Amino acid sequence: MTPDEPAREPGDRPGRQVTQMTGSREDPHAQARAARAQPLLLHSMSTFRELFETIFAHREIATVVEVGVESGQVSSVYADLGATVYCVEPAPDDELCAVLADDPRLNLVEGLSPAVLGDLPVADLYVLDGDHNYAVVRAELAWIMENAPDAVVVLHDVLWPCGRRDFYYQPSPLPHEDVHPAAADGPTVWHDELTPAGFVGDGVFTAAVEAGGPRNGVLTAVEDTLDEAGGDWRLAIVPAVFGFGLLMKASAPGAEAIFEALRPLTSSALLAALENNRIALYTRVLQLQYEAAARTDDADRLAEIATAQQREIAALRSELDRAKAEHAAARRDLQRVRDASAPPPPPGPELGEAVSHLGRALSAHLRRNPGRPR
Ligand SMILES: C[S@@+](CC[C@H](N)C(=O)[O-])C[C@H]1O[C@@H](n2cnc3c(N)ncnc32)[C@H](O)[C@@H]1O
Repeated sequence: MTPDEPAREPGDRPGRQVTQMTGSREDPHAQARAARAQPLLLHSMSTFRELFETIFAHREIATVVEVGVESGQVSSVYADLGATVYCVEPAPDDELCAVLADDPRLNLVEGLSPAVLGDLPVADLYVLDGDHNYAVVRAELAWIMENAPDAVVVLHDVLWPCGRRDFYYQPSPLPHEDVHPAAADGPTVWHDELTPAGFVGDGVFTAAVEAGGPRNGVLTAVEDTLDEAGGDWRLAIVPAVFGFGLLMKASAPGAEAIFEALRPLTSSALLAALENNRIALYTRVLQLQYEAAARTDDADRLAEIATAQQREIAALRSELDRAKAEHAAARRDLQRVRDASAPPPPPGPELGEAVSHLGRALSAHLRRNPGRPR
């Protein structure tokens, strides 16, 4: 076994290593377990741990400024690699404050980038993952190029959806002229327009209605900065998890080694294809979730309509019953009135019988006493 080879597990077949990636005959579900342990959408820069390990391996990095911290799950990666970290977040919640307060290597900076950058020690590594729009990224890069020209700069979200489309955290501190017309709807890869079934910000951020064009998106900001800076600044992109951008002056310490070490990933058509497939699948999931929720809403609405209609039918039925009862009573009243105003009934059968009896008696009497005056 060479020093670099991972240790074999007991029962492992010669020449095969049991890793989390492959699982084994004895543990065939290891890969599936690892897969379901991940969130359905990988989005945190903590996924880039091995890229940061490569950067730290080729460059002395004592200070990191991390712009955009969210839950703080990636801050400790830089600290574990040996840096003191300044974690810039405008509105940290209690959980983040507690996480950062627990670790003396992590310093919470409550404020907005780029405004706070000048208050912090100049860093060896800037990780930009805050407000994903042209104006903010352009201003952050301008500050870094002027004040920390030898720094390593890592930018998240240089590919879809933020590469060519601004996103604005709300409420946006940007002046009106730096904000494209934006909406709460989000992008999808399945068509070019925003949609409520897309990558929406749920009130946290909005997205520019149109993608592309000038001064729109994170990658556009990087390109314009490089055009303006001239000189030997270089950009490389690892096309995974929304795009990992590495920006350095070619003459900065460690630059050549870092770009070289990352080349298998930055030039990988395979990675780019997997990322495209990932965003296609995920936005299809978003669409299906949206449609399922809409169908549930429809079903709820139909159930409400059916309940209301059943109530109305019951009310109409009882009204009908009441009307029938009233009708029957009215008929009875009518009958009583008719009965009261009708002519006397014709003689009944007994009276007829009596009359004919009387007739017969009279005839008999006349036969017995013919000629007598009547
Ligand atoms: C995508 S999240 C960061 C995720 C984190 N870097 C990770 O990989 O786990 C973006 C964060 O940037 C913060 N943010 C927004 N505008 C900012 C700004 N101007 N400066 C610093 N942070 C900002 C947001 O509050 C949000 O928490």
